[in-house]
Amino acid sequence: MSVPKFKNINIKAYKPGKSRIDKKKKYIKLSANESSLGVSASVKKIFNNKNLIINRYPDSKSKILRKAISKETKCDFDKIICGAGSDEIIQMICQLYLNKNDEVILPEYSFLMYRIYSKIVGAKILFSKEINYKVSVENILKKVTKKTKIVFIANPNNPTGTYLNKSELLFLRKKLNKNILLVIDDAYHEYNIKADYISGLDLFKRSKNVFILRTFSKLYGLASLRIGWGYGDRKIINALYKIKPPFNVNFLAELCATEAISDKKFVKKSIKHNVIWGKKIKKLFLKYNVTSNEVVSNFLLLNFNKCKISSKLFMKQLLNNQVIARTMEEYKIKNCLRLSIGNSSENKYLLKVVKKIFKNV
Ligand SMILES: Cc1ncc(COP(=O)(O)O)c(C=O)c1O
Repeated sequence: MSVPKFKNINIKAYKPGKSRIDKKKKYIKLSANESSLGVSASVKKIFNNKNLIINRYPDSKSKILRKAISKETKCDFDKIICGAGSDEIIQMICQLYLNKNDEVILPEYSFLMYRIYSKIVGAKILFSKEINYKVSVENILKKVTKKTKIVFIANPNNPTGTYLNKSELLFLRKKLNKNILLVIDDAYHEYNIKADYISGLDLFKRSKNVFILRTFSKLYGLASLRIGWGYGDRKIINALYKIKPPFNVNFLAELCATEAISDKKFVKKSIKHNVIWGKKIKKLFLKYNVTSNEVVSNFLLLNFNKCKISSKLFMKQLLNNQVIARTMEEYKIKNCLRLSIGNSSENKYLLKVVKKIFKNV
């Protein structure tokens, strides 16, 4: 019997960081760079509000949230679009810009959804080599052709945990043809407190050919509610509103994100926690010759090249102790693991486990 034929799309589906391996055991999940401190107390209050109206469709333009974003980040209300995670905004940008055989440049180790959504719409991906796990502006520029439409970079980058500083970003934008869209994904920007770092939004707020991505899934702890936003020139935003699913952002997500973005105390506390624990964890691993990135995001890319055991064996030992890290096989980064920074008790347990593992090898 013949059946309707669907397109054969040559991609591998995204595999999220694992949550558990054995259903009977409790695991510490350090595989998806989620918030280690949960959500702020004021966001929790929203969940306890029994009068939430859910029988009505949400506001299709998320005006309450966009007002709060505009106030907190001092940017233009009309240049903001909200999505079901920044993930959905990546998808919409690809839909809006890319035709078959257009080219997209991605650093070789970059967030997997850039390549997945680009390929779905038929674009060709060109990977630019990184240097020491850091995005190379020179190598991006070498990949530019007449067909290049978009360059995506996450800054800080996932999964490498490295970043481009302000002058590198400015140089990249200056050297790229004006008609190429530079997408800067600020997913982890809050965690980067280095003096030479500036977020994409702060640097390119007024640019017509830079598009910014932001998320509430990381520091703000709203990963499960699926809420993120994009920022760009009004013409781009207006075009995105035409292709956006009408009710992509649910009301609860909008209310929680509105509350979360104005809770400065929680943001400060999360950043401090991340710096303190990130340094402690990094230092312990270094003792066993496991190197990693500076603490500029809420995760470490652990490199086992100088260590006496492999990342694979270490991962196995972690799992035996109910700790889940993220393997780097899909990213094709050899002998490395990515580990998110957990809450205090998770981190204390992790440090104990690491010492135990290395004592026995
Ligand atoms: C760099 C980067 N961008 C975007 C996302 C997706 O975030 P969201 O949950 O907002 O879709 C992630 C998630 O891991 C990420 O690492």
